[in-house]
Amino acid sequence: VRAVLPAAVGAGGGIPAGIPILGAWPQPAPGPGEVLIRVLAAGLNQADLMQLAGRYPPPAGESPIPGLECAGLVEAVGGLAEQSAGASFAPGERVMALLAGGGLAEFVCAPAAQVLPAPPNLTFAQGAAVPEALVTAWTNLVAEGGLLAGETVLVTGATGGMGTMAVALAAALGAKVVAAARDARRLESLYGLGAAAVALLDDGLADRVRGLTPGGADLVVDFVGGEHFPRALAALGAHGRYVLVGLMAGRAAALDLDAVLRRRLRIAGSLLRPRPRPEKGRLVQEAGAFALPLLADGSLRPVVDRTFPFAAIVEAYAALAGGGAAGKIVVTMA
Ligand SMILES: NC(=O)c1ccc[n+]([C@@H]2O[C@H](COP(=O)([O-])OP(=O)(O)OC[C@H]3O[C@@H](n4cnc5c(N)ncnc54)[C@H](OP(=O)(O)O)[C@@H]3O)[C@@H](O)[C@H]2O)c1
Repeated sequence: VRAVLPAAVGAGGGIPAGIPILGAWPQPAPGPGEVLIRVLAAGLNQADLMQLAGRYPPPAGESPIPGLECAGLVEAVGGLAEQSAGASFAPGERVMALLAGGGLAEFVCAPAAQVLPAPPNLTFAQGAAVPEALVTAWTNLVAEGGLLAGETVLVTGATGGMGTMAVALAAALGAKVVAAARDARRLESLYGLGAAAVALLDDGLADRVRGLTPGGADLVVDFVGGEHFPRALAALGAHGRYVLVGLMAGRAAALDLDAVLRRRLRIAGSLLRPRPRPEKGRLVQEAGAFALPLLADGSLRPVVDRTFPFAAIVEAYAALAGGGAAGKIVVTMA
């Protein structure tokens, strides 16, 4: 099958690591509890760029092909797949799947519990924009962040693929959402996803949050870190929770320990990809149980910035690496 070859293969033959190339790869066969999916669209993620550059190997035993999410049609079902928690699929069914790798290929296998039915109102490109963003948002807002309806949550990097879904999901969960990013123009569109306020990632961030909720935010879900970490932390109220999810602005930051002590803050970090399959399956099923009806009635919408044909994978990754997208970048196979 046609696939984005793993960095090590791509690096041979004089192609520098980090430049994705398409080539032939064996078609995977579904093992027990797995679903073979004919991929019709796949979402691109920052993790793919790190993997292609040789800095983020896939978890042991998972496909070396990049690609953390896809949408497509069920081609075949491995033994016992129909018995997996909450998941029963038949050939031809429209699905979307969270993957540990392998999505940037014409076929991929996924554990059945990591596969969700794709609502008929979504195109395959929109479906491919859902799994990683939805499950990351759910994991960090709900499972890690403990978000409750009525609470105030600050989402940083809110204009990106993860951020747009986190804003929309938090609003759907009944939270007051402050969406923060560095581009004022794209921030405005986040009101349409349910943000109660938008804010630039600058020294006015904490004031902007306190303008909405005087005590400060209950939760920060931070996709950028780096120099913005102290600003995000300053926006938290007493007993505030902070979950670090991404490092778009860098891995080093100053931490005001006195603020942590006095406001009794809790600081956590979270990675989805290396979690064991059963844990991921549970998160997918929980997120799906909440979000599928909302996706189906249009009240929760994946945000696709642009789609590229699979043959233009180099241009698609260049667009992701270049930044400035509003939402997800997706490639389509058909
Ligand atoms: N921990 C996990 O389990 C997990 C799961 C999924 C993703 N992630 C991570 O989450 C992060 C966001 O992923 P994504 O898919 O949303 O990426 P994305 O679509 O490329 O969006 C990135 C967001 O970060 C902003 N940003 C980039 N560089 C910045 C900087 N130097 N300062 C401030 N903001 C900056 C972007 O703003 P502009 O558009 O203005 O550049 C955009 O809002 C990535 O680091 C990714 O690896 C983590």
